[in-house]
Amino acid sequence: MAETDHLYIFDTTLRDGEQSPGASMSREEKVRIAKGLERLRVDVFEAGFPAASEGDFDSVRTVAESVKDSRVCALARTRQADIQAAGEALAGAEAGRIHTFIATSPIHMENKLHMAPEQVVETAVQAVGQARQLCDDVEFSAEDAGRSDQDFLCRIIEAAIDAGARTINIPDTVGYNLPEQFSGLIRSLCERIPNSDKAVFSVHCHNDLGVAVANSLAAVQAGARQVECTVNGLGERAGNAALEEVVMAVKTRQDCFPCSTQVNAREIVPASKLVANITGFHVQPNKAIVGVNAFAHESGIHQDGVLKHRETYEIMRAEDVGWNTNRMVLGKHSGRNAFRARLEELDIHLESEEQLNEAFARFKTLADKKHEIFDEDLQALVTEAGAALENERIKLLSLHVCSETGEQPEATVSLLVDGEERRAVAPGSGSVDAALMAVDSVVQSGTELLLYSVNNITSGTDSQGEVTVRLERGGRIANGQGADVDIVIASAKAYVAALNKILASQDRRHPQAADV
Ligand code: KIV
Ligand code: ZN
Repeated sequence: MAETDHLYIFDTTLRDGEQSPGASMSREEKVRIAKGLERLRVDVFEAGFPAASEGDFDSVRTVAESVKDSRVCALARTRQADIQAAGEALAGAEAGRIHTFIATSPIHMENKLHMAPEQVVETAVQAVGQARQLCDDVEFSAEDAGRSDQDFLCRIIEAAIDAGARTINIPDTVGYNLPEQFSGLIRSLCERIPNSDKAVFSVHCHNDLGVAVANSLAAVQAGARQVECTVNGLGERAGNAALEEVVMAVKTRQDCFPCSTQVNAREIVPASKLVANITGFHVQPNKAIVGVNAFAHESGIHQDGVLKHRETYEIMRAEDVGWNTNRMVLGKHSGRNAFRARLEELDIHLESEEQLNEAFARFKTLADKKHEIFDEDLQALVTEAGAALENERIKLLSLHVCSETGEQPEATVSLLVDGEERRAVAPGSGSVDAALMAVDSVVQSGTELLLYSVNNITSGTDSQGEVTVRLERGGRIANGQGADVDIVIASAKAYVAALNKILASQDRRHPQAADV
């Protein structure tokens, strides 16, 4: 294994993170997250799986062209067409990486691949060789390594390194391993594989048993020098190792790790909020580092201790991970320039004047209702404005809801559908239900509501409520977000945004769901 004190952080929020059911993101949303990852200074991030669909290809290509400071990676099965697509999607990247994978556990080889181990080795070698023709930087993953035979892993990894792979990833695909066992595996592979010093060993842990971060950290102590992780621990099933936890554990406990990362920790909370805002996967309050309570001291004894000497109860400083660093507020007297400047400071670059106009108009409407506009409000507003411009076939023109104690609420909605104004009235069990029913009685969408959640963007009763609605139709899932100081209006906006995405969504497949 290459001896280095640099720990590479490989983010896969845009690929494995997107595999969380319901976390699908549009191309523009992916670019915004990619920019956030660049600000975080992750070494590499996986932008997607170009062979999965035209939409995925297009997203990876656009992201690759938009990013300068992080290496952009594209995932590919060992199929020729996948690797070709990955190479093409990365053509415009400043620095690219092709990541190819094949399963190595007996259960996967027998039941999924229907391949003998020897064929799997040959296929891996061919794929790495083909990828090296297209890109200097190639990563090979032995899928389900955590349940693979160690002798076989040694064979296939040695062959992949010989074929030109410079990063070898050991995924615990199903989250089955425990820390001691997993670090033992990494140590043993590094020691036994004769050419292991020619590659960086990487780990990719899933959180099915709640130990993805513990496994990743144990692997680093055993010699791994790349950790694959996601913002907020997003990812397939129970998720992946959380980037913020891995980074802060290594930074806070330098006494236990012989390496460090280049991540700009002050960008952790902004990145977390950005991902939560775009995916609609809100962070639990007690989540380490990025939960709203992560640095809150409720008990009197703790408060007293922290006031006397901060380190009595705090091992990290909230501001060091980006809490409360961006509190500058805008208000109704703020002009277009101040608005644009604040967006730029937040590194939100709207691509066209049209986008800026749309966002500024929304800002003015909000500023009339809400005294102070915080950065979080701006993030929500830009998400909404972007979604509206991207695929707005349905537009909410007005909503009127009657709600009275003892009476059934009723909503009257007016929508612009493909340019034609339509109106409907519907009752509901509550105001939100009535508003959504009224919208649906116009659109007749045939969708199923998978999730409805409300989150206050900032604190106070004048805070905007941010609503996420997740809809499903014919296997397609889309999230819509809406924000407003009135949560019934926010709900209707979120519902309309999700409907617009369902109407515009393209077929997408996930790599592990696809046949190999
Ligand atoms: O979990 C997994 O094995 C993966 C691979 C594609 C690296 O996501
Ligand atoms: Zn994974």
